[in-house]
Amino acid sequence: MRALVTTGGADPVVAFAEVVEPDPAPGEAVVAVSAAGLNRGELTVAAAVPAGSRLGWDVAGVVERAAADGSGPAGGTRVLGLAGRDGFAERVAVPTGHLAVLPDTVPDTAGAALPVAGLTALYALRHAGWLLGRTVLVTGAGGGVGRVVVQLAAAAGARVLAQVGGAGRGDGLEKLGASVVGQYGDDLAEPVDVLLDSVGGSTLELAFQAVAADGVVVSFGNTTREPLRLPLDWGRLRPGVSLRSLYLFQETRRQPVGRDLVTLAGLVAQGRLDPQVALTAPFASSGPAWQALRDRQVNGKVVLTL
Ligand SMILES: NC(=O)c1ccc[n+]([C@@H]2O[C@H](COP(=O)([O-])OP(=O)(O)OC[C@H]3O[C@@H](n4cnc5c(N)ncnc54)[C@H](OP(=O)(O)O)[C@@H]3O)[C@@H](O)[C@H]2O)c1
Repeated sequence: MRALVTTGGADPVVAFAEVVEPDPAPGEAVVAVSAAGLNRGELTVAAAVPAGSRLGWDVAGVVERAAADGSGPAGGTRVLGLAGRDGFAERVAVPTGHLAVLPDTVPDTAGAALPVAGLTALYALRHAGWLLGRTVLVTGAGGGVGRVVVQLAAAAGARVLAQVGGAGRGDGLEKLGASVVGQYGDDLAEPVDVLLDSVGGSTLELAFQAVAADGVVVSFGNTTREPLRLPLDWGRLRPGVSLRSLYLFQETRRQPVGRDLVTLAGLVAQGRLDPQVALTAPFASSGPAWQALRDRQVNGKVVLTL
């Protein structure tokens, strides 16, 4: 079969090459992949691993071979799932606990956009706690995770302030539930109960200054790759603020994510969540899509298709 493997270079980052078939463990189903979400984290991983490495966390497709231990969906079932690192392939073995049935009305591309972005948004909001009536500031709000955070926070009853890096990057965010769409460092006229940051660096430092006493800060990314900075004397100036970090693959070690994927896919099926697929590209010629994501040109998710 064929799969995307890293080239060791930057252009293209990956090539579509022959690889060995998956060898599923008893609790894994083999999924024939039709679509696979591309995440910013995979850009980082691709640049760090040796040439010939496999990638791919988010998949949607059809169960080609059910798990040998009898768990999970039957052969022929449409699914979405969180694969290990091998999802950019024609077939991949996925632990059945990390699979969910894809509702008939949800396209494969939408399903493939959900696992990492949707679960990260969901768990970041769980870390934040009660949202009804609270004011939530989201940085990096125009990206794949950010656009889901905005929707879920608004659906949970929060007033959402969305911040992006420039004109056009926040297109559509008001329709998704943001009350205010602005840029990093904007002077906010109101205190913020919850800050959800994935940009880091000076953006986090500035956003932190808007957090009210006893507020919650959840850091789930560091896209700028700058050191995470907090304002001097923040503990005295913002008493009671709690800082939390989220690492999705720590969450997945604690519990299978299939149940949460059912929730996310169900919200999409009900028209209550839009995973914001902004760019699709075939596996065989996905180089420009990787580049566009790296260059901050995608207002939402990139999904690769087979
Ligand atoms: N903790 C976890 O387990 C976990 C899981 C998933 C993702 N993440 C992290 O969360 C972040 C968001 O992920 P994503 O998949 O949503 O990425 P994405 O779609 O690329 O969105 C990232 C957003 O960050 C903004 N940004 C600010 N400074 C940037 C810079 N210097 N370079 C590039 N973008 C910049 C961009 O919007 P503007 O152009 O408007 O600024 C972009 O919309 C990433 O850092 C990712 O690694 C962490």
